[in-house]
Amino acid sequence: MEPKSNEGISIIPKPKRIDVKQGQFILNNKTVIATVPTLKKQAEYLKELIAPATGFELAIKSLNKNEEDINLIILNVEENESSPNPEGYTLEADPDKIIISGTTPQGVFYGIQTLRQLFPIEIESPSKITMEWSIPCVSIDDFPRFSWRGFMLDESRHFFGKDTVKKMLDIMASLKFNIFHWHLTDDQGWRIEIKKYPRLIEIGSKRKGTNISLRKIDGIPISGSYTQDEIKEIIEYASDRYITINPEIDVPGHVTAVLASYPELSCTGGPFEVSTHFGIHKEILCVGKEKVFDFVQNVLDEVMEVFSSKIIHTGGDEVPKRRWKKCADCQARISKEGLQSEEELQVYFTNRIANYLESNGRRLMGWNEILNDKLADNAICHYWNEKFDEVLDNARKGRKIVMSEMRAVYLNYPYSRTPLHRTYEYDPIPDDLENKFHQNVLGLEACVWAEYVKDSKRLEFQAFPRLSAVAETGWSLKIKKDYQSFLTRLNEFNQRLSFHDVNYAPKEIFLKDDVEP
Ligand code: ACM
Ligand code: ZN
Repeated sequence: MEPKSNEGISIIPKPKRIDVKQGQFILNNKTVIATVPTLKKQAEYLKELIAPATGFELAIKSLNKNEEDINLIILNVEENESSPNPEGYTLEADPDKIIISGTTPQGVFYGIQTLRQLFPIEIESPSKITMEWSIPCVSIDDFPRFSWRGFMLDESRHFFGKDTVKKMLDIMASLKFNIFHWHLTDDQGWRIEIKKYPRLIEIGSKRKGTNISLRKIDGIPISGSYTQDEIKEIIEYASDRYITINPEIDVPGHVTAVLASYPELSCTGGPFEVSTHFGIHKEILCVGKEKVFDFVQNVLDEVMEVFSSKIIHTGGDEVPKRRWKKCADCQARISKEGLQSEEELQVYFTNRIANYLESNGRRLMGWNEILNDKLADNAICHYWNEKFDEVLDNARKGRKIVMSEMRAVYLNYPYSRTPLHRTYEYDPIPDDLENKFHQNVLGLEACVWAEYVKDSKRLEFQAFPRLSAVAETGWSLKIKKDYQSFLTRLNEFNQRLSFHDVNYAPKEIFLKDDVEP
């Protein structure tokens, strides 16, 4: 049970410390947002957050220490490069003023998200409501447990588009997520414009349908892609919410859409079609051919021009070696480079790409299949399934890891298989990992794979409320986590989502017991 003094305070993710004080702060149309020049954007964001429901157009003034400080929301930053918690903030609410401060603008932004949840749920209303806009007086000190709090969306299998992505980014921001991993390429569709290779869109972004059985296709064409300008717009939207977008270009497997567009990049020459079925595909990039490296590097050049993220995800999952075993070019590469096996050929490929990214000031991340004793030290491992001991071993040797255990945080799975409590109880730090290595686990990422997630409504149904659970794991102290308390707070958070027309799964679905797989 929550302490009684916290009644009415319902924040996800749970802050590190909240003390409830006497009284309340009442917002009215005379309330002033007082701030410093570096927080102008944050002040505007807060003003726009409050305006629709309250009808108040709050004035924004510069923070003047001599001013009569009554009826103010103060946003302040005391920049400190060596702050141990750059994403942290404090929030002091008293009857006459609220003060949010941080050592970075990002921390202040998270303080604003907490303030938002201190207001009555109606603050989320897109249209004006006449009521008292009060918040309880509190003292909050808060910072995240993990620096990596991510969400991955697969837009290859189904394409959702800009508005859906922006809506997801908005909700992610309210839950204090800071990474959006954008899975933009796969066997069933290529979704990012690459100017040097126009056929990736002309051919690779379209499929004629989706298999409904082994030999039957539904005949409903699926297509969609983003121009580089659209992607820049979304990156800026995310950046305004302190969310970094890490793009994923999945290579050397999951590339049927590439090979349909440029069959000469395969081992066999094709022809190929953009895939209409799911699962692991045997056709992969021919790593024996130098033009494949030219292609990947040219694509990454454009990706790096559009995305400023330090990290570029290059997939590397589910790479069957059947084609490489029979390919003269791949075998010649294995001999020439003195490699022991096709497995080592994948490491050779990954390391070349990792070095290329590093020479451009970026860092490679890949799914756990990239792991190998010979893998470049700097490559980040994205754990999803199997190879768990190898992942542990790598964490002990200093490799950085992000955790996406499929049984817990693959949110495309049905609730009957991955119920909310399993997602909530998942901890990204493996039980067997010694304390001194915990710092190598950067955090966690929830994933929505979209094979069977055909539209935004379904996406929202799969993501919520489980993404709210992942937010709490990413941010809140482990000892502060409590499922019953979470469920109580979730009830309120879901009502907030309702104001934004989010199609979260109902209780009858997300509270279903675990069933054996
Ligand atoms: C994956 O689920 N293939 C990373
Ligand atoms: Zn080959």
